[in-house]
Amino acid sequence: MARKKLIAGNWKMNGLLADGVELAKNISSGVKAMGKPQCEFLVCPPFTLLASVKKALRGAKVALGAQDCHMAEKGAHTGDISPLMLKDLGCSHVILGHSERRADHAESDDIVCQKAVAAHKAGLKTVICIGETLAERESGKAVDVCKKQILGSVPADSSAADTVIAYEPVWAIGTGKVPTTADVEEVHAAVRKVLAQKLGKANANKMRILYGGSVKPSNAKELLSLPDVDGALIGGASLKAEDFLAIAKNGGC
Ligand code: 13P
Repeated sequence: MARKKLIAGNWKMNGLLADGVELAKNISSGVKAMGKPQCEFLVCPPFTLLASVKKALRGAKVALGAQDCHMAEKGAHTGDISPLMLKDLGCSHVILGHSERRADHAESDDIVCQKAVAAHKAGLKTVICIGETLAERESGKAVDVCKKQILGSVPADSSAADTVIAYEPVWAIGTGKVPTTADVEEVHAAVRKVLAQKLGKANANKMRILYGGSVKPSNAKELLSLPDVDGALIGGASLKAEDFLAIAKNGGC
C-alpha cells in the first residue's frame, strides 16, 4: 500500500509576523522549485500567524494547520479557538495531543479524542500525537503506552482521509536524541496493528504514521525509509526553510 509521505512543520510558540511570513515564503518557493514532489507538505504556525502564513503560501502546495483547537464549536471559552474558526481561516489540519499540550495543559486521551471528533466535524484533518516518556521507554513500556494512547485518543470513526498519527517519543523532542531505527519501526508497526483493530485493516494500511523528535536533514533518510514511517513532524528544524526542505529531499520527496 503506497502512502504519500507528509512532511509537516510544527513551529510551536515561535515566530513574530515578519519572520513567520519570511519562513512561509521561503518554504513556498522551495516547494514550488521541487516541481512535482512525491510528498505532501504541511506547516503549523502559531494561531497569530495563520492568516498571514496562509497568504504567504499562496500558489504553493503546502497545507496550513493549527497546533490545537477546542472541542466546542463556539461559546464561553475565553482564550480558546474552535475548529470551525480554524477552518474559516483556511486551515485544513490541526495537531492534537502534542506531548507539550498533554504536559502543559493536562490534556488526557479523552480530551484529545473529543477535540478530534470536533475537528473532524468541522472538516479539519487531525494530526494526533502519541509517544512515551523516557521513564516509560526505559521500563520497556513504550509500545504499550503508545497503543493505549491510540485507543484513547483516536475517534472510533476516524479514517485515513481525516487522520494522521504522529509518534513522538517525549524524550526525543528538542533533545537531539533519536530512537534507533529498529525502535521507531517497532512502535510504528505496533501502532498500525492497533489502528487495524480499532478502525479496520483498510484504514490502518492507508493511514499515515509520522515520526517526530529531533528530525534533521542528516537523519531524515534513514527514518523516512522505514516501512511504516510515512513522513515527519518536525519542530526545531522546521523553523529554517533550508532544513525543512532538506529533510524532505533527503527523505525521498
Ligand atoms: P523537534 O523536531 O524540535 O525535536 O520537535 C519535534 C516536535 O515536537 C514536533 O511536533
